[in-house]
Amino acid sequence: MKKYFVIGNPIDHSLSPKLHNYWIKENNINAVYDKKQLNESGLAEIVEEIKKDKINGINVTIPLKKSVIPFLDELTPLASEARSVNTIFKKDGKVFGDNTDVGGFKQSLKHINYDVKNKKVFILGAGGVVSSIILALRKLEVSKIYLSNRTKEKAEQLKKNYSYIEIIDWGEITNFDIIINATSLGLKSDDQIKLDFGKIGNDKLFYDVIYNPSKTNFLLKGEKLGNKINNGKMMFIYQAQLAFKIWHNILPKVTDKLLNS
Ligand code: ATR
Repeated sequence: MKKYFVIGNPIDHSLSPKLHNYWIKENNINAVYDKKQLNESGLAEIVEEIKKDKINGINVTIPLKKSVIPFLDELTPLASEARSVNTIFKKDGKVFGDNTDVGGFKQSLKHINYDVKNKKVFILGAGGVVSSIILALRKLEVSKIYLSNRTKEKAEQLKKNYSYIEIIDWGEITNFDIIINATSLGLKSDDQIKLDFGKIGNDKLFYDVIYNPSKTNFLLKGEKLGNKINNGKMMFIYQAQLAFKIWHNILPKVTDKLLNS
């Protein structure tokens, strides 16, 4: 039986095992997908298990998407460009790091029929998933990417790799078509992002990478002001779908039944 894991810390909340095991069963694959809480100190050992075929694939989540890179033999061009790995597999005796967050984000916009081309995007946050979002937006030919993060150095670090982004001071607002919350603010029910949306109008898209709760205070505020909103559920599902394809060479179905389960 083939074995797959999602690794990270915290990992308890991860819905990846439920989703992958659903598709594994649906496609009659002899495999199991589990979760493992892991810190950087455990990375060498788990990558070694892939090398020895004891584990067949790994999804990587917070906070390991960057720190896993030195332990891998190769990166796919996309993972290399995003400097972030969320999917690991073995091919021709080598352990590869790939990135399906970029594709997952792109697919999530397609899912809601939102064309971002030539749009101005304002990203909040500079954590693990942000480089993938920047890359996806760039590939989709947005006209401008603004980014704001509480810790400015982290935003400046991103600008070193993606020079076309423009940094906005934390707490300030700029003119945008889409605003993306990629911070962890919103996971707790009393979390608030203190921005003044008083003058933004009501023709924007509020996108939150968080999907649990399904409507963060950030999305509730966007909705109340009359804007479109979208949570991170479809990005999560599509990144998993692309990882499944890499490992099993089957593109599993995203059905209403799945979405409602
Ligand atoms: P990591 O930074 O380890 O990759 P993450 O969960 O991917 O972790 O990212 C957390 C993001 O949420 C960061 O952008 C973080 O801002 P800092 O870089 O300043 O830490 C942001 N964040 C978390 N708590 C926050 C808060 N109370 N106010 C503002 N931003 C916050």
